[in-house]
Amino acid sequence: MKRWAFTAAALAVQFALPVQAVSITDIQGPAFISPLNGQSVSNLTGIVTAKGTSGFWIQGPAVRSKSVSNGLNVFTSSKTILASVSVGDSISLSGVVSEFRSSGSPDNLFATELQSPANIVVLSSNQVVTPVLLGTDRSPPTRKLSALDPGNDGWLAVPNNQSRIDTVNATLVPDQFGMDFWASLEGQLVTVPSPVALDFANSFGEFWVHGDWPVTGKNSRGGLTISFALGSDGIPDANPEVIIVGSPLDGTKNPAVSLGKTFSDITGIIAYQFGFYYILPLTAPTVLTTPDPTIPPSTIKPRAQVCTLVIGDYNVENMAPTTAHLPTVANHIANFLNSPDLVFLQEIQDNNGATDDGTVSANVTLATLAASVARAANTTQTYGTLDIAPQNDKDGGEPGGNIRTAHLFNSTKLRLVPGAPAGGALDATKPVLGADGNVTLTFNPGRIDPTNSAWDASRKPLVTLWETTNGARLFTINLHLTAKLGGTTTQGNARPPVNGGVDQRISQVQTIATFVKALLALDPNANIIVGGDCNEYVQTRAVFAPFDGLLTELDVAVDVPLAERYTYLFDQNSQQLDHLFISDAIVARGDLAVEHVHVNNWAPTLAARASDHDPTVARVKIC
Ligand SMILES: *[C@@H]1O[C@H](CO)[C@@H](O)[C@H](O)[C@H]1NC(C)=O
Ligand SMILES: *[C@@H]1O[C@H](CO)[C@@H](O)[C@H](O)[C@H]1NC(C)=O
Ligand SMILES: *[C@@H]1O[C@H](CO)[C@@H](O)[C@H](O)[C@H]1NC(C)=O
Ligand SMILES: *[C@@H]1O[C@H](CO)[C@@H](O)[C@H](O)[C@H]1NC(C)=O
Ligand SMILES: *[C@@H]1O[C@H](CO)[C@@H](O)[C@H](O)[C@H]1NC(C)=O
Ligand SMILES: *[C@@H]1O[C@H](CO)[C@@H](O)[C@H](O)[C@H]1NC(C)=O
Ligand SMILES: *[C@@H]1O[C@H](CO)[C@@H](O)[C@H](O)[C@H]1NC(C)=O
Repeated sequence: MKRWAFTAAALAVQFALPVQAVSITDIQGPAFISPLNGQSVSNLTGIVTAKGTSGFWIQGPAVRSKSVSNGLNVFTSSKTILASVSVGDSISLSGVVSEFRSSGSPDNLFATELQSPANIVVLSSNQVVTPVLLGTDRSPPTRKLSALDPGNDGWLAVPNNQSRIDTVNATLVPDQFGMDFWASLEGQLVTVPSPVALDFANSFGEFWVHGDWPVTGKNSRGGLTISFALGSDGIPDANPEVIIVGSPLDGTKNPAVSLGKTFSDITGIIAYQFGFYYILPLTAPTVLTTPDPTIPPSTIKPRAQVCTLVIGDYNVENMAPTTAHLPTVANHIANFLNSPDLVFLQEIQDNNGATDDGTVSANVTLATLAASVARAANTTQTYGTLDIAPQNDKDGGEPGGNIRTAHLFNSTKLRLVPGAPAGGALDATKPVLGADGNVTLTFNPGRIDPTNSAWDASRKPLVTLWETTNGARLFTINLHLTAKLGGTTTQGNARPPVNGGVDQRISQVQTIATFVKALLALDPNANIIVGGDCNEYVQTRAVFAPFDGLLTELDVAVDVPLAERYTYLFDQNSQQLDHLFISDAIVARGDLAVEHVHVNNWAPTLAARASDHDPTVARVKIC
């Protein structure tokens, strides 16, 4: 009998059986695809660790190699077979080794399983399998997901989908790559100690956690933020040290979840399904702690000084005049963003929202929001509003909604520089030298290159030239870049994962950079703020590369801690999709500030959010 070195995860029982032709580890092998895929096996032995509605799991003796799992899913929908085994039974059985892909999608990995189980013999009962205690016996790597995400841009490198895990079928390197780590535990019983929620639950009650083990990118609320890996090579950190908690195998229901909640330890089976490595809990965990529900307002406030401006930025999620969340957003602007002097808005819908009848004007939507903000601020002062209506159904988003970017502005501090006509949906505004020697716009407000194919089915950028009461000027470009639709999961087959819409976002940022360059060529000291919902994190360097040397992100200028740079939660990651970039003239003047106000992503429930994005408040000096 071999002696197993891997004591902490070792089985509590020894097998007293004849030497087996095939073991579970033979089936799992050291790579993603089973060496025995498609083959019939017999006299396979293992201890039943868990049962579900479509099969059960067996586990063999612990093994030395950390890249080979000793657990296996036995797939069956036969109630008779399921009833014939109990957790703790040591069994032998035959079956067919198979690689199964959930949803049949080539973008998901294969999961190794034993199909058509037969000849099940219960050899003994009440055997105990000690789960692998994550954080003690083994801990996931914290930076990279896969060896197939190459170069300095790692999992966010462009082009995407250059290779596929199931085709390459590499030998697992669990110490370095998160997907390899979880694959090496496929089918095994593990314990996640002290889990912390990284997002709200999805519509199936599944939720992401990390456990009590080393993590990177941890923010003050408890989430893990996408950042550049510190101190090493500057590769974007993919947060592989997380796992999604699936539906409990015993039919209990997972508790309500929000960012930063903590739970009792979760013991369950590691399984790949629906594009991710899951832990399928034996039973639902209980909530141990819930973060403080009080969400602090921004500390940044408008000032009396003419030259100092407070800027807000908020994707208000499909807002029409009758939208239920409009008063909540108004309260956020008045009481959490402190009524900024100028607000960048995205997703303002036309006056009848998603009704698709040719209406494109949003003047009622904006007037309703401005009136609601005044009520929430207890003032009779009402914001001025500004937008350019798109062509009907040409800018993407919810069908019929005609979402666009827009501004609320404090007309006691800012007005539009007069002289140029307001642009229409198809008018491309250009920076030009005016008769007075100042740079101005051919349309004010105007849109950047609206007929460029980069902007097909997407919101065109809104450009405005403002002036303060003392004549200082500010150019703003309000963005809502194309969405991340049609991508693949971070733990999917395609490497690097498909980042939906990334090529279009690259083209979009290029057209904006071309405009900003033309403007700076006429006036290197121009005050410019480019901001809004970019549907991208700066760690996707390929998208923002055209801004390099041209504009500086406010978070960088202010040196906001890397982990606190987020405005959005998606799957396992806290991430920053909403950005404000400033020109050198503004950087040079200093007195900058920026805060992301987590009114939505710190909400106690998903239903309590007014938008999927958090707003941002910033302070700049323009003279
Ligand atoms: C995958 O790798 C394993 C282990 O090296 C090997 O036995 C198996 O044949 C490979 N399968 C495929 C389809 O490449
Ligand atoms: C498998 O088990 C059967 C009895 O169930 C036995 O007849 C056969 O010899 C075994 N084969 C091997 C390879 O151990
Ligand atoms: C990735 O590439 C493969 C072909 O190599 C293709 O079948 C698959 O659809 C692609 N995935 C996406 C989401 O584009
Ligand atoms: C919206 O615009 C229409 C057409 O110009 C005008 O009749 C209406 O009064 C405006 N409504 C508001 C609230 O500004
Ligand atoms: C407006 O009044 C409400 C209710 O008294 C108060 O909670 C809120 O702080 C006030 N807001 C401002 C901006 O004064
Ligand atoms: C604009 O700023 C002034 C102070 O400079 C303030 O009194 C007024 O309420 C603000 N207007 C809005 C709409 O917030
Ligand atoms: C605009 O031009 C006038 C002279 O015509 C000058 O006094 C003023 O400073 C200029 N303003 C800016 C913001 O450059």
